[in-house]
Amino acid sequence: MTVGHLHLAFAGGTALVTGGRSGIGASTVDLLAESGLSVIALDVSPEDAVAHRPAVRHAVADVTDEAAVTTALTDLLGESPLDYVVNSAGIHRQAGLESLSAADWRQVLDVNLVGAALTTKAALPWLRRSAGAAVVNVTSLEASRVVALINPEPVAHYAASKAGLEMLTASMARDLGRYGIRANSVAPGFIQTPMARANHAGVAALPEQAAARVPMGRYGDPAEVASAIAFLLSEGASYITGASLLIDGGFSTT
Ligand SMILES: NC(=O)c1ccc[n+]([C@@H]2O[C@H](COP(=O)([O-])OP(=O)(O)OC[C@H]3O[C@@H](n4cnc5c(N)ncnc54)[C@H](O)[C@@H]3O)[C@@H](O)[C@H]2O)c1
Repeated sequence: MTVGHLHLAFAGGTALVTGGRSGIGASTVDLLAESGLSVIALDVSPEDAVAHRPAVRHAVADVTDEAAVTTALTDLLGESPLDYVVNSAGIHRQAGLESLSAADWRQVLDVNLVGAALTTKAALPWLRRSAGAAVVNVTSLEASRVVALINPEPVAHYAASKAGLEMLTASMARDLGRYGIRANSVAPGFIQTPMARANHAGVAALPEQAAARVPMGRYGDPAEVASAIAFLLSEGASYITGASLLIDGGFSTT
């Protein structure tokens, strides 16, 4: 299936996208639906920011609640296979190390890291029914480097959760390869989404101190992350597993 300039070949028909109602997740839902897949957009928030498409079904569940994810998949899939999982649900709270409470640490690790592990585990019985299943986890540039450009303090709990998600991805690739399931991650930099706007004082353009460090000189668009996710899910990436793809406009080169 050719979408825009992108040729995507998919072996199967159904994708689960967590965090599917906003930002990168919503863009991924759109692109996968455009590519001919049936998509389940799962989100803790019932607000519907995604254009209604017949190929998209919505589920309200918290990714940290394994039983709730299982219930949603049982309701929507029955005995049918699931081919793809995109773990894009995530939270970010701007705060420096000195002000982070135990509750802050647990909440961010729980959603960003444990949530991806439990969602993938819950999906596994359906993924194993697919002939060419794949998982993509949405990590961050901050998984591999400390970033404190727009805000003076690095977000230790968020960065640690994303570094953990990178290692979870590698473990998934190793563990799930036995079922023919691939697992990769994308590590976005500054992407213009509601999350980024909340943390960058709501400005439309990438703040100057960050733009000066990004060779592309601008925010990335969520669609520019979605296209990489779609590629990693597709048949075109059939020998790629355990990989992490930076999508940061070149920030990490500076
Ligand atoms: N925007 C960026 O610059 C950027 C950069 C690097 C990584 N990321 C990562 O990309 C992913 C998507 O972020 P975004 O920028 O699109 O943010 P966003 O806030 O626009 O979207 C995140 C979505 O996740 C959902 N969500 C949050 N907690 C959940 C839970 N417990 N269960 C189910 N859904 C939940 C939210 O309701 C929301 O719809 C996140 O994992 C984020 O950490 C974003």
